[in-house]
Amino acid sequence: METNTLLKIAQDFGSPVYVYNAEKMTSQYKRLTDAFSKVKQLRLNYAAKALSNISVLKLFNSLGAGLDTVSIQEVKLGLTAGFEPGKIIYTPNGVSLEEIETAAKLGVQINIDNLSILEQFGTKHPKVPVCIRINPHVMAGGNSNISVGHIDSKFGISIHQIPHILRIVENTKMNINGIHMHTGSDILDIDVFLYASEILFETAKNFENLEFIDFGSGFKVPYKAGDIETNIEELGTKLTKRFNQFCKEYGKELTLAFEPGKFLVSEAGYFLTKVNVVKQTTSTVFAQVDSGFNHLIRPMLYGSQHEIYNISNPNGKERFYTVVGYICETDTFANNRRINEITEGDILAFKNAGAYCFTMASNYNSRYRPAEVLWYQGKAHLIRKRETFDDIIHNQIEIAL
Ligand SMILES: Cc1ncc(COP(=O)(O)O)c(C=O)c1O
Repeated sequence: METNTLLKIAQDFGSPVYVYNAEKMTSQYKRLTDAFSKVKQLRLNYAAKALSNISVLKLFNSLGAGLDTVSIQEVKLGLTAGFEPGKIIYTPNGVSLEEIETAAKLGVQINIDNLSILEQFGTKHPKVPVCIRINPHVMAGGNSNISVGHIDSKFGISIHQIPHILRIVENTKMNINGIHMHTGSDILDIDVFLYASEILFETAKNFENLEFIDFGSGFKVPYKAGDIETNIEELGTKLTKRFNQFCKEYGKELTLAFEPGKFLVSEAGYFLTKVNVVKQTTSTVFAQVDSGFNHLIRPMLYGSQHEIYNISNPNGKERFYTVVGYICETDTFANNRRINEITEGDILAFKNAGAYCFTMASNYNSRYRPAEVLWYQGKAHLIRKRETFDDIIHNQIEIAL
């Protein structure tokens, strides 16, 4: 987005504020559908956990996407945003049978990732179609916290447990209509994807009534110019060919599903903060902004390197800064970054702030969560108000002391 537009949004809506560009989300959605245009039945289920503002969900619904959800609350958000229940897939991990039954009653596609719940659910509701999340035991992903398909992972049912799955299916007569995997986020090497897909195809042969195969997500997006990213077009060409061939072998036209989060929204997002203090120490120049890991935890959680630029002084001389927040704990956003000269009061824009940023925000230090703005059809729309002191206090109960 244009620097001046971002600056104007910071002036009009205050800081800190998240800004999302609807046009970028739309073009990413189109890029993915184009890459898989030769698949007869394609379904892109947007991963709500990346950015779950209801206006963003409505945008993806209007584009024709489905929705990938991981909690009953995300399911309800999706339904509120207008998704048909049949276009929502619910892929929880470690939730209660009751929560899964509630989702099933709402009519969404259930995806089960452990044998215990599979057996209990199949026994009680043999007629409800169920997808199974497989753990293909592939180590993939940019950071150990986001690699979820390896042998030590808590996600999915091991491919070595297929005989046990089959026994449960046979005993309960339940209907398995989908097979799913998600091996991690930030996967660079498409061969890893293709390799894991082969495991999924082998697994699929065990089930007669499949309607779809869900290949999860994990596409790597660029964080700065020249960064490596998943080659979606090459993956599209290679996986389409293999998928279409598999459908012939299987004897039925299946739906190919993905559930991208980051790919669709990461680059569409900007986080705008104001510099409160420029502080020189014996070794460093800190730029301290009106935010912290309470609003954007990814650098502290995963070591994510968000590009940061000074939109108040875009042509200024470059100097080195360590950008930190105002939280009473170390909350470093970036170390020793070259940024156009910063003066107190300047607005810094963080890039790639669409995915896993606002949705991971908290009220730590009793701070308010930021406002969110959607840049849609050339206009800035406020899609979430900045919190106020009422939001901090309204669920608290004072007792007489
Ligand atoms: C089951 C599942 N599907 C999809 C996603 C989205 O992944 P990404 O944001 O890398 O596209 C995640 C992310 O953690 C996930 O756990």
